[in-house]
Amino acid sequence: NPPNLQMGEGSVLERSNCRAKGGAPGFKVAILGAAGGIGQPLAMLMKMNPLVSVLHLYDVVNAPGVTADISHMDTGAVVRGFLGQSELEAALTGMDLVIIPAGIPRKPGMTRDDLFKINAGIVRTLCEGIAKCCPNAIVNLISNPVNSTVPIAAEVFKKAGTYDPKKLLGVTSLDVVRANTFVAEVLGLDPREVDVPVVGGHAGVTILPLLSQVKPPCSFTQEETEYLTKRIQDGGTEVVEAKKGAGSATLSMAYAAVKFADACLKGLRGDAGVVACAFVASQVTELPFFASKVRLGRTGAEEVYQLGPLNEYERIGLEKAKKELAESIQKGVSFIRN
Ligand code: NAD
Ligand code: LMR
Repeated sequence: NPPNLQMGEGSVLERSNCRAKGGAPGFKVAILGAAGGIGQPLAMLMKMNPLVSVLHLYDVVNAPGVTADISHMDTGAVVRGFLGQSELEAALTGMDLVIIPAGIPRKPGMTRDDLFKINAGIVRTLCEGIAKCCPNAIVNLISNPVNSTVPIAAEVFKKAGTYDPKKLLGVTSLDVVRANTFVAEVLGLDPREVDVPVVGGHAGVTILPLLSQVKPPCSFTQEETEYLTKRIQDGGTEVVEAKKGAGSATLSMAYAAVKFADACLKGLRGDAGVVACAFVASQVTELPFFASKVRLGRTGAEEVYQLGPLNEYERIGLEKAKKELAESIQKGVSFIRN
């Protein structure tokens, strides 16, 4: 075979002892859907993460192009590209963390649930691959509707006998990122100083910001509470409408996904006190899945925190959220069981 100069790997000009090929300390991370609107900036940011030693970029289109591009960045991670279903197993084998932003995004007028028809099947296929090739990996699921795709993934893993509830995490970090930003605007603070727990799920009324628990401690008028809750719940739609048919949030999502993936990797490394919100298997409510703060450790979401005291407005919001969540969860479960 001719040397592969373009991709760097296997090049005749590369001294094998100069670079710890995949042997550098760090974790092996795969991105499925890496050539997409989220996938590309996510891949770039993960290539910049010093905790990553190997980065696998998988997509059904354009994976070699994105890989060639990102592989030129002079950071530590070794990047490899994988194109199409026939390369899925190679992309997944040996991975510690798999991030999934594969699937179609919304256009104006659509709900996240309108994506179910197409994305449910995509998530099923990818999770079958994970069960086969890296059953112990942590999975960060971004593909919408998250409230249904996480139950789908759980059912696929149960069927394969590999399900570990601690390792399957629906990514809701964009809701927290937005909440921090919007709350900071209202309070006149630096968003980096603000921490807003957002619980429930990741669609409309299931997105429940707990404004009574904002750090630093503060209070809001009823008008501010209603404005902030609605803006956080409709944050995705705000971007979908602004993009006028060209997709949904990609850049802020990549940022939020990297923040969350970094927390997972720090947990895997054994750092103490790593806490983030995620949509996980849960006993916090009567529902089998719910987003709340979790503590991330060597085996994934090792502790799922209770919601803490809610005010009257949040208690009403919680009831609405649970009603919609129950249906979305059941829809995901039925997709695999029936
Ligand atoms: P996009 O269309 O730009 O990219 C999706 C990528 O997935 C494409 O490159 C496509 O080729 C790839 N893909 C399709 N089928 C695949 C398969 N079977 N295997 C591997 N890759 C496949 O979309 P996007 O803007 O990147 O959004 C992706 C998903 O993320 C959407 O479902 C969107 O709703 C969701 N999303 C979730 C959040 C969240 O907070 N969880 C935020 C934003 C977007
Ligand atoms: C978001 O919150 O931005 C994503 O879930 C994408 C969308 O469809 O809103």
